[in-house]
Amino acid sequence: MNLKVLIYKARVRGVPVYCCFLLLLYVLYKQFFYPKLKYADYVPKHLQQYVEFNEKFTFPPRELQSAEISELASTIALLNYERTVLHTQKYGTVTSKTNMVVVQVHRDVERLQYLIVSLAQVRDIESVLLVFSHSYYDDRINKLVSSITFCRSMQIFYPYSLQLYPNKFPGIDPDDCVSAAGRRKQFCSSRDGRLTEHKHHWWWKVNFIFNNLDWSDTFKGTVVFLQEDDYVLPDLLHMLRFMTRSQAYLPGLHLLSFGRPHAKGLDFDLLSVSSWHPPFDKGLAFNKSLWQKISAVSSYYCLYDDLSWGYSLLNAFRKFNEGHVDMVATLMPRVLSTSTFPSGRTAMQQIAMWLVGARMFPLNVKAVMLYSSTGRVNAGVKPPPWGNGGWSDLRDHLLCLDPLMSTTTGNTNDMTAPTFSQTTTNATDYITVAQHKMNMSEADLHNVNFN
Ligand SMILES: *[C@@H]1O[C@H](CO)[C@@H](O)[C@H](O)[C@H]1NC(C)=O
Ligand SMILES: *[C@@H]1O[C@H](CO)[C@@H](O)[C@H](O)[C@H]1NC(C)=O
Ligand SMILES: *[C@@H]1O[C@H](CO)[C@@H](O)[C@H](O)[C@H]1NC(C)=O
Repeated sequence: MNLKVLIYKARVRGVPVYCCFLLLLYVLYKQFFYPKLKYADYVPKHLQQYVEFNEKFTFPPRELQSAEISELASTIALLNYERTVLHTQKYGTVTSKTNMVVVQVHRDVERLQYLIVSLAQVRDIESVLLVFSHSYYDDRINKLVSSITFCRSMQIFYPYSLQLYPNKFPGIDPDDCVSAAGRRKQFCSSRDGRLTEHKHHWWWKVNFIFNNLDWSDTFKGTVVFLQEDDYVLPDLLHMLRFMTRSQAYLPGLHLLSFGRPHAKGLDFDLLSVSSWHPPFDKGLAFNKSLWQKISAVSSYYCLYDDLSWGYSLLNAFRKFNEGHVDMVATLMPRVLSTSTFPSGRTAMQQIAMWLVGARMFPLNVKAVMLYSSTGRVNAGVKPPPWGNGGWSDLRDHLLCLDPLMSTTTGNTNDMTAPTFSQTTTNATDYITVAQHKMNMSEADLHNVNFN
């Protein structure tokens, strides 16, 4: 482009000179000063080793032969028995106070690698134990996960996966309608093993974490639950400290949530207090006390006819004495979803742009209770009296009720069913009635048990 010619042409057409100057200034500004993110800005050089899979990568469809299946089953049984924690030499042994971050992984490894990059940038990540719970065994995924050096890590494997049971319950069973091609259709189960796996895996994993680890009996830490298509912000654990601390100020809060539908312009230092309900199922965190209460009403999770673990959990909470569970959540999410983007890579770029100039790591936080003219916002959100279906098979119920001992399971993504309208996130509907200013000096922060 010849700028002189352009300006000349513009002048001939009667565009004033100053317009040309403004345009020129704008072009210069765009060229040299406008914040442009380079690859190295969102994947720092030392973390580029974790990015190996490109956007087109998928695992080739392949069904294991029965010999391979039994071999894999024993490998998995052994790994779940050994439960090796890596890097304890460098970061110390895990104790009953160590917080955990648990990631549920299927096979979206392209997104998983960006989650790992984001976890690597979390401040204090070396204090936690990072656990990956897999429903698909593959050497490439294992290699990626075991290459993590920024904290202690551990892998567990869901033993009733569709990979291990491709042709029978809990996978796709001859008695399921989905597989009953051309067979008697009269007596078949409408379950689909590809859809039930996610809820089973969620439940199995939480059971395993709170019951089967060496330190489970006396475990006092908090567990943050993530999925492979999540993306965390660097102040995740910083906020976790505030939120655990807030439980002392505001009793009755048992659940922490770091994710909510992304909304622009919210403050990074606000915590909200409200009843928990499913749009908040990203980045949920709780400790063993809440888990014991959930276990006591497990049948309301396991028998609820819904494929979504979130709505099933909500149904279990309804059986608590209070009829619901209060949570404290970060108004500005610290766990974002990459599944709304075409790939992990594009998500990472977009999120990096959002975060330019974001005021993370607040030194003070404010907790607000959300009230509207009709009382507390979503106090006691009720689940629908019956679920959205897909979970009515007795075999699924039984496996779920006894997840650590039974015999089988199916596969895949949560078909979360958004049945009831989520309560408004319109900030103008919120009247702040309680403002607890938690004044925490750095010294205070260190007092909160974080190890
Ligand atoms: C779990 O957190 C609650 C606060 O919500 C606390 O009262 C309880 O002691 C904690 N449980 C354990 C086992 O640390
Ligand atoms: C919030 O609600 C008010 C009034 O109910 C409305 O005028 C405003 O546009 C809403 N804002 C958003 C972001 O939805
Ligand atoms: C917060 O700290 C400041 C100084 O550190 C102090 O002046 C103020 O009174 C504190 N506020 C509360 C609510 O504790």
